[in-house]
Amino acid sequence: MSVKVIVGAQWGDEGKGKVVDMLAEQSDVVARYQGGANAGHTIIVGDRKYVLHLIPSGILHPHVTCVIGNGVVIDPDALMEEIRLLESFGIEIGGRLKISHKAHLIMPYHKLLDQLQESDQKIGTTGRGIGPSYIDKYNRTGIRIVDLLDRDGLAQKLRRSIEQKNQTFRKVYDAPELDVEKTIAEYVEFDRRIDGYITDTTAYLNEAWRSGQRIVAEGAQGALLDIDHGTYPFVTSSSPTSGGACTGLGLPPTAISEVIGIAKAYCTRVGNGPFPTELVDETGEKLRRLGAEFGATTGRPRRCGWLDLFALRYSAMINGITEIVLTKLDVLSAFEELKVCTGYELDGRPVKYFPSDCSTLDRIRPVYQTLPGWNQELTGVERFEDLPEATRRYVEYIEEVVGARVGYIGIGPEREQVVVRGL
Ligand code: IMP
Repeated sequence: MSVKVIVGAQWGDEGKGKVVDMLAEQSDVVARYQGGANAGHTIIVGDRKYVLHLIPSGILHPHVTCVIGNGVVIDPDALMEEIRLLESFGIEIGGRLKISHKAHLIMPYHKLLDQLQESDQKIGTTGRGIGPSYIDKYNRTGIRIVDLLDRDGLAQKLRRSIEQKNQTFRKVYDAPELDVEKTIAEYVEFDRRIDGYITDTTAYLNEAWRSGQRIVAEGAQGALLDIDHGTYPFVTSSSPTSGGACTGLGLPPTAISEVIGIAKAYCTRVGNGPFPTELVDETGEKLRRLGAEFGATTGRPRRCGWLDLFALRYSAMINGITEIVLTKLDVLSAFEELKVCTGYELDGRPVKYFPSDCSTLDRIRPVYQTLPGWNQELTGVERFEDLPEATRRYVEYIEEVVGARVGYIGIGPEREQVVVRGL
């Protein structure tokens, strides 16, 4: 048995939550490997809508064990709120949630810094403290879950960190300082509440893998927001690409057998940064309205545009995508014709590789292919063969350009609204 990695193949919000929920049914373990409460994974079951920010999207299946891996940055407030919410829906978390003792914590000063830095940087972050927490991790000054187990040591580390950050608040931002003792008390209380979940998840996952359990590694955000491979600096501060699954969980690359790339049938982006196929017109507005494209975490309207196959091919390359799940195809049902971007031109010449700098990305011109729309509802279709011909053509065109097979097609928000394409 081996590990399936689920990656967002675009700029996030591709619908990973629903896909992980679907795959969890035939899995034993679902493990989140990076990011934090900046993610918003939406799952709709009947008349209930669950938005998960930290807990893996497998939690709705009672037989699945959920892991928050070492690569995730954990906001205690967000985690406790999520546990409370799930329990209020009658979902038993108990022994099914395991939190890595090596995961880093998000502190109140990280959230504050994230928001203050936005006034100069304008990345358009979610303001959840993600970047500042990863900065401390790589600066080797972060506070980890394991630190919670040593109360005295924790108080000492926290005092040092808060005092240092307070200087920044005072001197750089002229902002109010944090109360050291209050913060220490909050984190001690957090430890009391999550103590039972703390696990050596690296050992747990490796044993699960070796004993033949079926593991899904769940990525958050998307490949084009990757700190190394995304549209830097307009990226998140972690590695959503498939490589991040190994470092973020402690599973070896040899454990991975499949990389499932989730791609929306069009493109969206939240926050700032290059978006070559963006539509700032009525068509973009229509996509936003029909696709309900508003952030699950921040509620911000998402920028919308045509499907960018040039970027998707790049994403397939860096992730090693073995299969694509195409989501929200039903949203395109109301369009007469559809454009897909097949390449970029720079100064009239074709661009060979996805550009690595924003100034080039701002100057490129997308090259489009126009495909016929299908002008027909897809609701209720169960088999690929029963989709309208133009819909099938759209899917097959994606496969041709990207060079990966589309195995599942999302045709509505409900759990069941998926066309599973047989082999
Ligand atoms: P951060 O992750 O909050 O630091 O934000 C950095 C960039 O990533 C911003 O453009 C955010 O809008 C974007 N981002 C972060 N998380 C998500 C997500 O889950 N979906 C889509 N975009 C995200």
